Amino acid sequence: MIHPRTLRVDYGRVTSVLCVVGSELNVNLHRSAPPSSRFFSVKCTPNVQYSISPPPQVASPLTPIPLSRNSLLLISMNQASQVTNDSKLSVWYYGRNNEVLEKALLHLTAVEISLDVDADRDGTVERNNPNKGSWKWGPNGNGAVLLVNCDSDRRSSKKKPDSERDSTPHVSDLKDMSMMVLRTRGPAKLPEGYKLTMHISQGDAESVRVFRSKSPGAQSNTLQGTLFNIFVKEYPLVLSSKVLSQEVPYIGGEAEMNYYVEGLRFPDKDFDGLVTINLSLLEPICDGLPETPIFTDKVVFRVAPWIMTPNTLRPVEVFVCSTSDNYQFLKGMKDLVAKSGYKLKICHEYVNRGDRWMQDELEFGYIDSPHQRFPVVLDSPRDGQLDNFPYGELLGPDFGYVTRIAQRKDVSSLDSFGNLEVSPPVTVNGKKYPLGRIIIGVAFPTATKGRNMTKVVQDFLWAQKVQEPIALFSDWLLVGHVDEFMTFVPAPDRKGFRLLLASPDAAYKLFRGLQNNGHGQAKLFEGLRDEEQIALDELLSDENLEAENNYVQSCIDWNRDVLKKELGLDDDDIIDLPILFKLLEEEDVKEYRAVAYYPDMVNMIVLGKNLGIPKPFGPRVNGRCALEAEMCSLMEGLGLNCTFIDDFASYHKKLGEVHCGSNVRREPFDLKWWNLEM
Ligand SMILES: *[C@@H]1O[C@H](CO)[C@@H](O)[C@H](O)[C@H]1NC(C)=O
Ligand SMILES: *[C@@H]1O[C@H](CO)[C@@H](O)[C@H](O)[C@H]1NC(C)=O
Ligand SMILES: *[C@@H]1O[C@H](CO)[C@@H](O)[C@H](O)[C@H]1NC(C)=O
Ligand SMILES: *[C@@H]1O[C@H](CO)[C@@H](O)[C@H](O)[C@H]1NC(C)=O
Repeated sequence: MIHPRTLRVDYGRVTSVLCVVGSELNVNLHRSAPPSSRFFSVKCTPNVQYSISPPPQVASPLTPIPLSRNSLLLISMNQASQVTNDSKLSVWYYGRNNEVLEKALLHLTAVEISLDVDADRDGTVERNNPNKGSWKWGPNGNGAVLLVNCDSDRRSSKKKPDSERDSTPHVSDLKDMSMMVLRTRGPAKLPEGYKLTMHISQGDAESVRVFRSKSPGAQSNTLQGTLFNIFVKEYPLVLSSKVLSQEVPYIGGEAEMNYYVEGLRFPDKDFDGLVTINLSLLEPICDGLPETPIFTDKVVFRVAPWIMTPNTLRPVEVFVCSTSDNYQFLKGMKDLVAKSGYKLKICHEYVNRGDRWMQDELEFGYIDSPHQRFPVVLDSPRDGQLDNFPYGELLGPDFGYVTRIAQRKDVSSLDSFGNLEVSPPVTVNGKKYPLGRIIIGVAFPTATKGRNMTKVVQDFLWAQKVQEPIALFSDWLLVGHVDEFMTFVPAPDRKGFRLLLASPDAAYKLFRGLQNNGHGQAKLFEGLRDEEQIALDELLSDENLEAENNYVQSCIDWNRDVLKKELGLDDDDIIDLPILFKLLEEEDVKEYRAVAYYPDMVNMIVLGKNLGIPKPFGPRVNGRCALEAEMCSLMEGLGLNCTFIDDFASYHKKLGEVHCGSNVRREPFDLKWWNLEM
């Protein structure tokens, strides 16, 4: 691993050498021999090992060895020195008749140096892991993990992610950083002129900062050990984008110095997530000339990706907005969340300023490392009236924040995060996606124009790698979000979930069946004050509506095929929900786009086995809403319980439903992302 270093040895004088344990010195004997030498011999003190190449064919070690053009002496030391110059090696040169011509003497000092990280990912910084300088995915992989320090542990007048602060970290911040330990052993001081430096490339320095403890950390090779440093309270900056190289202290004897590496940015289009930090031992040449490195140790980190949580993970908290007109909805949500046993967080009107679309402004995710993990909210460039909620209300101690800044003109409704979902874990043709796959909606691939999710957000999502995204076609919808036609619910069998898809065909089939059974006069929208009721007979005779729904079904079917292929699903993994759409002409673009005809039941909130579903106000048959009955019977088989929430006036009429109006923070996956086989 470490290349031998070539050493010059002059006869007739003493050369002093600093040698790093584990490395080799290489002396070309012929080159440094006096002109008429024919033989040589080597002697040394016990801590020095040497070998001669080519191996000499002589009887005793004391017998002079013939000197040839390629005689090499390889020197190494396997133990650190207690004091400077405590080891010696001499080379004797002999003439034709074995008479001594000259002698070269080496004074050797050995030091042990190891820059260490948690390369085996067990939460502890082990000693000199042979794989610390590379990064490999998988359960048998190696390489340390770094978090973006995007939460806000430090209290100050102005809230900010810690990674954006200029001040040196507070002790509460250290747990969000990755520990790096510089372990050294050797004499009290390095020989005159030698020094240790830590360095990083300009590119990598954009992504990390390195701090160090002001005093050595005794036995603190674990995070708990950092408690030791509470009394120090000072963590000088070592490396940053402005300081690419800095001398670091060498502490004599056996010492450990703790360093803290802070991630500053997530993987993205221009950053694969890997960061290298080097430590070198520099040797002085002479005044005015730069020192040369005689030993370099290298460690590699990967910045943890931002990970989304599918509906199959356990909920922790549910978020909704309170507005002047959504009392009915809020009550339904409160009851459902209480019954399900989770926490409900209400965002009040002075914060939401009338923006009720809690799903659209943000997406909950998390970041994970062997030493720390916390939730991170991805803030959408949508920037509605709820704009300040992710930063102002969610960012905090152990709650991170990330966003991508887009040009205002590039932002469309497709940038709302109702258009950003994630599947449960799947296996596709043998390829495993144990953290699922991200799903977004874009313009139809062949479209020359159309709305898209903005490129900066798409680039960010793709760069996280561990939940490889799938792009669906959602631009056919007026609002344009994938959650308007699909969701996932947990299931006890098969792949552990079902994909639910909105289906006009299923709706027509259900309604025609009811008509055939004599319920043609049953009315939709019964019990709603401001909505005109419509009888099934009338609805089913509307040919325009049917044509529109055929178009919608073909859009959904296109997505269905993509999802089947990209998630490895069979038809039995998919359930079609009876939902109708209608087309509205969008005035500014003179194009027709779809909205739900009655509350869009697929736009539900999934809380374990409890589903909060938009109350569809379908035709009543034998005293029960036929759409609710159908929905319940489809979900019952999966052990799921349907609760219908009246969102008609306050959400449906504003072109959204229960899912659009809520958000769920969920438990992270048990599976560690670094164990993925990539
Ligand atoms: C080590 O040896 C070198 C060369 O002989 C000498 O210049 C130096 O002063 C010595 N250092 C100590 C600390 O003895
Ligand atoms: C770190 O060391 C490696 C090899 O040990 C070298 O290739 C790389 O250029 C070094 N990087 C910096 C920033 O010094
Ligand atoms: C929209 O994004 C998708 C997915 O990244 C891309 O394939 C497509 O070309 C984009 N479409 C337009 C119209 O920009
Ligand atoms: C559904 O919820 C109701 C009321 O909370 C409860 O009585 C019923 O047992 C639940 N059904 C299932 C299948 O969990």
